[in-house]
Amino acid sequence: MALNYTKEVMDHFLNPRNIGTIENPDAYTEVGNPTCGDMLSMYLKVKEIDNKKIIEDLKFLSFGCASNISTASMLTTQVIGKTLEEAKAFSFKEVMDELGGLPSQKIHCSVLAVEALQDVIKKYEESNK
Ligand code: FES
Repeated sequence: MALNYTKEVMDHFLNPRNIGTIENPDAYTEVGNPTCGDMLSMYLKVKEIDNKKIIEDLKFLSFGCASNISTASMLTTQVIGKTLEEAKAFSFKEVMDELGGLPSQKIHCSVLAVEALQDVIKKYEESNK
């Protein structure tokens, strides 16, 4: 059965933003979904302005499905420039909304993208206490 992807999902799948790696990242993570087997790596660079920690750069590599690529791509565009505190409150629903929705069996792909974001921030905070 063909899945109904929105124009935005297809655009981020075919032209992913912020895909790749960051040399000397401030933090790195790799997360996976055990059910579908898809994985996502995320690289974070943080800068400090006026005592606020800001996401300067965020890149990803996907080892997964079209929605995995698409949701990670959209998420990077939404959180680069945010403070870590703002990014920690970021929800998968914001990715879904901006993509114009996902087929129900693909919602977990957006959850995985947010898991990667939360985990890379956690790794950053653990190593910068
Ligand atoms: Fe699992 Fe997309 S099918 S991340």
